[in-house]
Amino acid sequence: MAAEHAPARVDFQSAGADFWKRYHAYRRVRQQESRPDDPLRPDELEERWLKRESPFDLQYQYEIAEDGILLSWLSGSTVKPGTPEYDSNKHLFWADLYVRPDARRRGLGSSWLPLLGDLMDAHGCTVLGIGTEDAPGHAFLRWLGAESKLSGAENRLKLADVDWKMVERWVNDGPKRSPQTKLVTYDGPLPESMWDDFAPQLSSMLNTMPFEGLDHGEIVVTPDHIRDFYARLEIGREQLHTILTREPDGVISAITDMTWAPHRPAIINQQFTGVRPDARGRGLGKWIKAAMLAHLRDLYPEAQWVATQNAGSNAPMLAINKQLGFKQYRAETEYQIGREGLAARIKRLPARKRT
Ligand SMILES: CC(C)(COP(=O)(O)OP(=O)(O)OC[C@H]1O[C@@H](n2cnc3c(N)ncnc32)[C@H](O)[C@@H]1OP(=O)(O)O)[C@@H](O)C(=O)NCCC(=O)NCCS
Repeated sequence: MAAEHAPARVDFQSAGADFWKRYHAYRRVRQQESRPDDPLRPDELEERWLKRESPFDLQYQYEIAEDGILLSWLSGSTVKPGTPEYDSNKHLFWADLYVRPDARRRGLGSSWLPLLGDLMDAHGCTVLGIGTEDAPGHAFLRWLGAESKLSGAENRLKLADVDWKMVERWVNDGPKRSPQTKLVTYDGPLPESMWDDFAPQLSSMLNTMPFEGLDHGEIVVTPDHIRDFYARLEIGREQLHTILTREPDGVISAITDMTWAPHRPAIINQQFTGVRPDARGRGLGKWIKAAMLAHLRDLYPEAQWVATQNAGSNAPMLAINKQLGFKQYRAETEYQIGREGLAARIKRLPARKRT
């Protein structure tokens, strides 16, 4: 059955109105399935966002459409040669698959596998990573033979339930426990003059995040990444707020950043929170998170939630979040499978499922 549906590569730059119409319909179906209570990014922002090519990743997207309906979607990416993360990430290919609920269990999902294998071979990738939040995704990935490598969750904090007295205590305790440390708040992008100093310090903190069994490369943030990140935020009209602590020698000991956007006024998104390993254990994590919450409460009175993503094994971050009142909203799992495992599954596909 799937062989009747030819996959077509999608080029966001040149895609016409017909494509965008079925793409936005697909987005709505997908959102309704897994995030029914969350606002959808407006179509115009989504298009501008997708049309902005990544300077760092090679990106592929394909659709299977029939009678003006996008039945299935595949997107995939791998790191671009010559970029700073290439050496340690070049074996990895990341993909996302979706099949409309009314078109499932007919082999459409598995019909993508030979193409995925070809894309991996074209770039010399040996490991495929796919994440899922939903039961059918888990069932499919287990059928594929992929292994669960990183389990995490989106956790949410209801601002109406926050113990603001405790938040105030954490803000006050910070300088008491670290009298030499300075906390600095930035509303909007960090000034470009800071990027050379900030980027490597952010990179080293990001690389201390737990990845459990996930095969992953090094995260390398450069000033070019910061420029790209800010350009993307601007497209989404995302307002960025960053809080840092600095030690007397100028070293950044803790970072937290959050974004708010007019199209989802009720939800503040936590981006990253990190404390340098040699500065842990003196309440900097609590200090910056509490200071940020107090700051954003004043700035965005319409906000009701803070949303954050955490690995299930990130005990220190989860402990702070739990004390603040974050609760699990949605579980997420990253799976991976080697190229040989993928080839073995492709070999066993029924003939009709080969595209
Ligand atoms: C995961 C997904 C892409 C599968 O698409 P699909 O077209 O239904 O998949 P296939 O028909 O090719 O299924 C292949 C095999 O996977 C397993 N499988 C797929 N969905 C399953 C389910 N809901 N329950 C149990 N097994 C399932 C079956 O073994 C199936 O073979 P069978 O139907 O001959 O028994 C689709 O369910 C989906 O879009 N889910 C939500 C998005 C998502 O989680 N994406 C990321 C993970 S891929």
